[in-house]
Amino acid sequence: MWGGRFDAGPAELMQRINASHPFDRKLWRQDIRQSRAHAAMLKDRGLLSGADHQAIVDGLSQVEAEIEAGTFSWRDDLEDIHMHVEHRLSEIAGPAGRRLHTARSRNDQVATSMRLWARDTLDHLDAGLRALQSALLEHADRHADTVMPGFTHLQPAQPVTLGHHLLAYVEMLERDRGRVRDARERLNECPLGAAALAGTPFPIDREATAAALGFRRPMRNSIDAVSDRDFVLEVLSAAAIAAVHLSRLAEELVLWSTPAFGFVKLPDAFSTGSSIMPQKRNPDAAELVRAKSGRILGAFVAIATVLKALPLAYAKDLQEDKEPLFDATEALAVSVAALTGMVEALTFDTAPMQAMAAVGHPTATDLADWLVTSAGMPFRDAHEAAGRAVRLAEERGCRLEELSLGDLQSIVPDVTTDVFDVLGIDSSLARRTSAGGSAPTLVRAAVAAARARLS
Ligand code: ARG
Repeated sequence: MWGGRFDAGPAELMQRINASHPFDRKLWRQDIRQSRAHAAMLKDRGLLSGADHQAIVDGLSQVEAEIEAGTFSWRDDLEDIHMHVEHRLSEIAGPAGRRLHTARSRNDQVATSMRLWARDTLDHLDAGLRALQSALLEHADRHADTVMPGFTHLQPAQPVTLGHHLLAYVEMLERDRGRVRDARERLNECPLGAAALAGTPFPIDREATAAALGFRRPMRNSIDAVSDRDFVLEVLSAAAIAAVHLSRLAEELVLWSTPAFGFVKLPDAFSTGSSIMPQKRNPDAAELVRAKSGRILGAFVAIATVLKALPLAYAKDLQEDKEPLFDATEALAVSVAALTGMVEALTFDTAPMQAMAAVGHPTATDLADWLVTSAGMPFRDAHEAAGRAVRLAEERGCRLEELSLGDLQSIVPDVTTDVFDVLGIDSSLARRTSAGGSAPTLVRAAVAAARARLS
């Protein structure tokens, strides 16, 4: 394509390091789509005859059909998807095909294809995250009242409901989707027409191509249009944060499915056995979701590092934006789908949750709160007194609510039998009525509100 200036062709190694078609062929639909928009604009502006335009339109359809059918031939002497499409088009459409590159460059072309691709990918991601939210909501609804131990430091803290715990993930995913939408909104501008970096003398209509491709507007600065990849970073940053959230859920499923917890039974369809230990039932899918967050985070770092200190405008470094983006978004998509499948089909075993919720004196805070409310103690003193009650229960090997009134009065003489009303798990739960709290009434309302937001 640039034979005019060279005596010799490139070394085989040059072609090898330079070729991006093995990975950027993923952009073929976007590339053809923007070529159609560009050709239509050239025709409308009198830069392409009606006959040439028709030859290009027909030729692009044939290229599309060949790629779709898998009969298209890919070759290393054509660097990327853009050259492949244009080259084949020129074989099919003759000189008309060789006119398509008027007033554009691969620099604005690749940026446009990447934005189109990122936009589609974000839309799929949003739909996937939404499906995971729905799956979590189903369980949250069913388990709005189910007691489970709430942890801090992974130590018994206070009783919560399973529904409340699951709704925490629904909230995380809501913010993830917000980041996806933000990234989509910001990247939805069209680089096409920036040409190599400086614009073009041809009387092109950038508004028209931007509109035809569904972009909000043309990018304002031609240098920025071809040199910037912050949209890739934003997609990866949204992806990385979502992946981190998924890894936390995955980790809890791994933990909860161990005999030590026994909270959850993962579906057969998402578990594996062992080739040596017949009893095994391993949560591989959850483990892989947990691990894939690593490469998704790595992709962000890889591209940030490529962009750091890169002089304007286009440099070939930017070709390295693709593999990490494709790999990370694919890893995230499969993670979201697998987690959704797992969550949809898993079953919770509520008895072990209930049993564990009672371990570790989880209503000690309720005792302290009662001493504040009913005995008028300052919270710090109440905390200390409740701590002594815990120590006594530990000495006796009993639960807090199994201490006698006399035991409690030996610590705080004002204690009355009313105190026992707040030491049980259910009352502790029912009393967590502050906004956003774990009381089953609130959890049910939160489920309904989340449902309404989703629909
Ligand atoms: N394959 C290139 C990329 O992915 C396309 C743009 C090439 N532009 C250039 N001036 N060499 O970045």
